[in-house]
Amino acid sequence: MPKLKEMTEKLTTQTKPPDSQAAPADWRDRKAWDRYLHANYHQPPFPVPTEVGAPGWQAVRFLDLVLARGGRVWFPGCGTDIAPRFYSSIGCNVVATDFSTVALRAQRTFAASPPERLFTNWSAFVQQRKPDSGSFDIAEQDFTTAAPNGVFDVVLNCRAFQGLSINAKRAAAKRFFAALRPGGVAIIDTMNVQGSSARNEIEDSLAEAGFYLPYNATERWYREQLDGTGISFAMLLGRPRVQYNRNNSVKNSMAQWERDQSILDSFTEEYEARRVQEQSLVQEAANKPDTLVAYVIYPTG
Ligand SMILES: C[S@@+](CC[C@H](N)C(=O)[O-])C[C@H]1O[C@@H](n2cnc3c(N)ncnc32)[C@H](O)[C@@H]1O
Repeated sequence: MPKLKEMTEKLTTQTKPPDSQAAPADWRDRKAWDRYLHANYHQPPFPVPTEVGAPGWQAVRFLDLVLARGGRVWFPGCGTDIAPRFYSSIGCNVVATDFSTVALRAQRTFAASPPERLFTNWSAFVQQRKPDSGSFDIAEQDFTTAAPNGVFDVVLNCRAFQGLSINAKRAAAKRFFAALRPGGVAIIDTMNVQGSSARNEIEDSLAEAGFYLPYNATERWYREQLDGTGISFAMLLGRPRVQYNRNNSVKNSMAQWERDQSILDSFTEEYEARRVQEQSLVQEAANKPDTLVAYVIYPTG
């Protein structure tokens, strides 16, 4: 008699292609995005995404900023995320774009459904927070070559930037910059971006397009110091943590780990002082009415 684990594994491999849950290796591959989005799609209804962990909650972390900036928001690479529809349900003027047909189909389904059908606790939610009415437009677009008509207060790119080629990053950053009003904001919410070169590449593409990146000078300085130690680390909650590496016998000793960690930690004080020093420059730049600011978020730190 086959064991339950074997039966479950068999069922899962039969119903889904093996790699369908992973993002495509080649981000230009629309069909691969279709398969990925299809494999990861969840049917509504969902809890209102202000609840941490509910589908869409990651993008809803930026709701207050979007509302404060004026509420006109473009979601390039929206996927099947419910967040764009939620933003429109509470008064934002939203345009969601993607080049995947699965993404567009999902967004059109959300657009056609009233929020009380999409969100299980909508009636309780609206009693606390009387929503204004917004708008919701959807378009099939490659955001490296096209942008929706109109002018936006915020571009909210969630988990749809880090895997682009360097040229595609540059092209996308230019599109985002051109779509924003003076004083507008781009948020690039990334996923699993570790290592200086990957982070620098994202930030450089945005800076080259004309965006101002707050605290970038300090962050670059910090990365350079940490890289200069030669210690293998990952960033966690904004701080470097020594990476254990099974293949590296030196790193297997706790004493060595502690020594390495204390070397990495030795830069913290100066890093914090530099951030305080950069603060007045950041405020000055961000307060200029014409500055377009880009925030790159590394959720792991
Ligand atoms: C990892 S998914 C993230 C989806 C959604 N933003 C979220 O956070 O759930 C990346 C999305 O970006 C889309 N995408 C990637 N490159 C794109 C491009 N050049 N133009 C338009 N959409 C793109 C994919 O089709 C996919 O829907």
